[in-house]
Amino acid sequence: MGEGSINKGYYRLYLPINTIELKPKLFTKLYKHELKATQEKQEMENGSRNVLKPMDSEQLREYGHRMVDFVADYYKTIESFPVRSQVQPGYLHNLLPDSAPDHPDTLEQVLEDVKTKILPGVTHWQSPSFFAFYPSNSSVAGFLGDILSTGLGIVGFSWITSPAATELEIIVLDWLAKLLNLPEQFLSEGNGGGVIQGSASESVHVAMTAARDKVLRRVGKNALGKLVVYSSDQTHSSLQKACQIAGIHPENCRVLKADSSTNYTLRPELLQEAVSRDLEAGLIPFFLGANVGTTSSGAVDPLASLGKIANRNEMWFHVDAAYAGSACICPEYRQYIDGVETADSFNMNAHKWLLTNFDCSLLWVKDQSTLTEAFSTNPEYLQNKASQANLVVDYKDWQIALSRRFRSLKLWMVLRLYGAETLKNYIRNHIKLATVFEQLVSQDPNFEVITPRIFSLVCFRMVPVDNDEKKCNDRNRELLEAVNSSGKLFIIHTALSGKIFLRFSIGAPLTEEKHIKEAWKVIQEEASYLLRK
Ligand SMILES: Cc1ncc(COP(=O)(O)O)c(C=O)c1O
Repeated sequence: MGEGSINKGYYRLYLPINTIELKPKLFTKLYKHELKATQEKQEMENGSRNVLKPMDSEQLREYGHRMVDFVADYYKTIESFPVRSQVQPGYLHNLLPDSAPDHPDTLEQVLEDVKTKILPGVTHWQSPSFFAFYPSNSSVAGFLGDILSTGLGIVGFSWITSPAATELEIIVLDWLAKLLNLPEQFLSEGNGGGVIQGSASESVHVAMTAARDKVLRRVGKNALGKLVVYSSDQTHSSLQKACQIAGIHPENCRVLKADSSTNYTLRPELLQEAVSRDLEAGLIPFFLGANVGTTSSGAVDPLASLGKIANRNEMWFHVDAAYAGSACICPEYRQYIDGVETADSFNMNAHKWLLTNFDCSLLWVKDQSTLTEAFSTNPEYLQNKASQANLVVDYKDWQIALSRRFRSLKLWMVLRLYGAETLKNYIRNHIKLATVFEQLVSQDPNFEVITPRIFSLVCFRMVPVDNDEKKCNDRNRELLEAVNSSGKLFIIHTALSGKIFLRFSIGAPLTEEKHIKEAWKVIQEEASYLLRK
């Protein structure tokens, strides 16, 4: 800053580039401004300013409490929001600035923006009236586990990078394998074991890559073009994506038709015929994907019969129980994974229906070496005594990415803070609510339940008038839009055998019978409006 002197009532300010004369008030203002700038410059130079303390424990305590209050208030008022966000594409662009702030905003300002700008664009998956897709459960226990995981901030790719992360993951996956009564080969004591992936898509991708490398070791690495994958047409699109990534030729993906005669499950005879045809053609059947709870209708493939065919033909057998796997911790639903003993890999998403906040997809394999042979790398900088001596699991070799979060904490918290019996009853309650909804639909002559229900998904539609299926499809689409635009609930549609129908999927943690009844009332009201039109 320049220096000043007084000259005939004016203050003269000598600045580095010129000299200016100012009235006293303006001089004082400018002087203060200059003084502040000089102080800041000095602080910057001596390093005392702008040294961010991003994990200051007192700030964490204060802000953390406020954020927990904010989230708790969100849950308290969650029913006041339209379940499906009602904003138009691009809405946020008009509400937020074009560039990041140069200087900090306050937490109040940010939370205010969350309330007024972000929440309108949120679809409320945890709302008790969310009946779309399959659920994605949050819980206090899962939330706490997530906070702890984020708080510890570790990256557990190798055992050495945080032994507890690896060891807890092995333990909780064994716990859950026991709850599911999975065959012992899936437990960590032998050659098997479980790993937490981010999603069912990653799980099937990992399984398929392991299977591909295994079969190529047997038949020769140039045989990639001959490898064939089998699944029903009800299998989730993640299997197709896995084929794309694993380099399986699209013409070698057998998507076998499942229809109403088997409630949309894969017929073993159809699989056997396809496998035989491919073998005769000199191709190599190598991967079968089966479902326990298909995405469209919750159908369960006959695992035991399918698995026998896979085993006979030395194919890898993967079971996708992303949603319904959680139900199989209840003894009365365990039957739906009978035959899992014939599988090589089994997957269920604890983040869907087992109160473990997203993401927590559990994958078990019978032979962990199939994963490590496909995924391990061993650069110098990751080498350490424990890994080199083969004393430990390094989960980096069981997945695509290197880095990984301490996700087992969430699942451990859920299992400990709720206990298995509470979790079983939680699942049972949703299935009971599904029977309530199913009865309501069945009692209304304008509607029909379209496939038999096993778990907590009810598939239904408005019935056709004069057997006009085309009009019926259009009407059900209209109904869907009307219901979702009401904001009072959220459901989605799908199609089976050309019929459009609506899926009512129960599994949000806060859903009670009253929400089912309210939702049904809205559906009926919108339907009668459409019928009157
Ligand atoms: C049966 C089934 N498999 C796989 C997936 C894909 O799950 P993710 O989003 O975890 O990849 C879903 C999704 O709902 C599903 O229903």
